Amino acid sequence: MYYPEALVEEVRLRNDIVEVISGYVKLQKKGGRHWGLCPFHNEKSPSFSVSGDRQVYHCFGCGAGGNVYTFMMNYENYSFPEAIRALAERAGISLPEPEESEDVRRKENRRARLLAVNKEAAKFFYYQLRSPHGEIGCNYLRKRELSDETMHKFGLGFAGKNGTVLVQYLRGKGFRDEEIQEAGLASHSEKYGLVSQFWNRVMYPIQDIHNRVIGFGGRVMGDGEPKYLNSPETPIFDKRRNLYGLNYARRARSSNIILCEGYMDVIAMHQAGFTQAVASLGTAFTEEQAALLRRYTENVLLAYDSDGAGVKAALRAIGILRNAGLTGRVINMQPYKDPDEFMKALGRDAFEERIRQAENSFFFEIRVLEGQFNLSDPEEKTKFHREIAGKLCEFTEEMERDNYLQAVADKYFIGVENLRKLVTAYASRSGLARPVERPKSGVHKKGSPEDKAKRAQQMLISWLAEEPGLYEKVKKYLSPQDFTVDLYRTVAEKLFQSLEQGTMNPAGMISTFESEEDQREIAALFSVSLPSVETGAEKGKAFRDILLSVKQNSYAYHTAHMGTDMSALAQAIEGRKALEELAKTHISLD
Ligand code: UTP
Ligand code: MN
Repeated sequence: MYYPEALVEEVRLRNDIVEVISGYVKLQKKGGRHWGLCPFHNEKSPSFSVSGDRQVYHCFGCGAGGNVYTFMMNYENYSFPEAIRALAERAGISLPEPEESEDVRRKENRRARLLAVNKEAAKFFYYQLRSPHGEIGCNYLRKRELSDETMHKFGLGFAGKNGTVLVQYLRGKGFRDEEIQEAGLASHSEKYGLVSQFWNRVMYPIQDIHNRVIGFGGRVMGDGEPKYLNSPETPIFDKRRNLYGLNYARRARSSNIILCEGYMDVIAMHQAGFTQAVASLGTAFTEEQAALLRRYTENVLLAYDSDGAGVKAALRAIGILRNAGLTGRVINMQPYKDPDEFMKALGRDAFEERIRQAENSFFFEIRVLEGQFNLSDPEEKTKFHREIAGKLCEFTEEMERDNYLQAVADKYFIGVENLRKLVTAYASRSGLARPVERPKSGVHKKGSPEDKAKRAQQMLISWLAEEPGLYEKVKKYLSPQDFTVDLYRTVAEKLFQSLEQGTMNPAGMISTFESEEDQREIAALFSVSLPSVETGAEKGKAFRDILLSVKQNSYAYHTAHMGTDMSALAQAIEGRKALEELAKTHISLD
């Protein structure tokens, strides 16, 4: 452990999980828990639950879960030490110097070193741009009408023609060659040794939401291939999970976020005052980025290039946004190619007007479709209408689908009833009208005997956590060995130990597990819903059935695995007796 366990616990206890998560996710209280839209996967109805009693969260949709630390690590992309520092600060607790285990230190160190070397490189590029060597870069950016203020805000820089100065500079700052290489800043050449990866380019540092430099994009000045050279993926640079400009856009206090295609578009938009603009990082827009945007807004405006490639990319992005439950609208940039050109030609007010006129993404899709058909030909017209029906089927909510159906029928002069018939036919043929299945989590799997056994063990742990008083009544029947799933057995050991001491602390227990996978599973374990029963007697029976099922499984498991060991046989016979006794026992839960 990085900090003393007691301190880790104190920081956790001083950060109520419901309060912390409420700062990120809109939660609603229902039935003793809080529910919201899961920030870790795309969904339209809430399956993300947070328990104030147990101080854990768990998503029934995607299986994400853990305690407040796990949440911060996943949501903010923090390592554990970063998460504890953030939470300690939130609670006003000052942390001592950490006790670092070798392993943790190495891993933490590696990330920290990568961030540090990038930061140092960004500084180097920044000063180069403002030095005589960088004049050519400066001229290029000025020609593109960027002000000094804008260049400063985005930390723009310059990589010169001499490929070794950066490396020398970084070595001088104490970075090892491997670190410089791992960050993707330099690579080995036979002739010159380690040389800069970026050469004669203007440099765009890419920052994460905490303003840390995680990578670079370097642009040739003028024509040349490739136009942009980007840092490779590294432990700190995940192109799917970051967006250029989001560190500023998240603070823009705008009701929308504008999604552009390029770095230059973002910069031009910010310069014109649209500080809510972001762009993906040299790759197509991803689901992860949509989930990221959903933290800050419900409305995404697409400002993609108006050429064929831009339209195609916009159509893709619309689908991803829709799956994420976000409303997408498309800004028409015509007759200009991209926001950068638009802004230069027409300026801020004209763009503001284009925002107001932004087209609903469904109508945008239909309009693009329309262009592919010759509507004066009845056959093509019919095909077009079929395509519309197909698109309408993508709306799973009936009311929404019907509203769109009426609107599109109006707009394209199609009879509403005819279109409705077409949609029904299309839906039943392709099965699209059926509700979308939720992704399954381990907890929901049913069927095989192993699953049933697993489920009973989950229920038993969850029930004991819910009503610690039960432990006294059943402990003579139960030992951690009865839990045949390895992780559950470990949890049962810790749980029984704390129940013996009269304490119960699922969230604290989670911190004692290193792997995120385990943390997730344990949070799920403590989030299992108990059977809903009316009377005390029913409840007693339900509990006994679960206990019995766990014992039966344990008995079957241990007899199957005992081999020739005689003491094991004796134990099994004991187990058999206990089982018979238990089956006859009436457990009162009152
Ligand atoms: P664009 O070609 O539209 O670039 O590519 P841009 O940002 O508008 O730049 P200017 O205005 O031409 O200078 C859009 C984005 O695609 C990625 C970059 O992220 C770029 O911002 N891209 C493009 C690359 O990663 N590599 C390339 O060679 C080209
Ligand atoms: Mn562009």
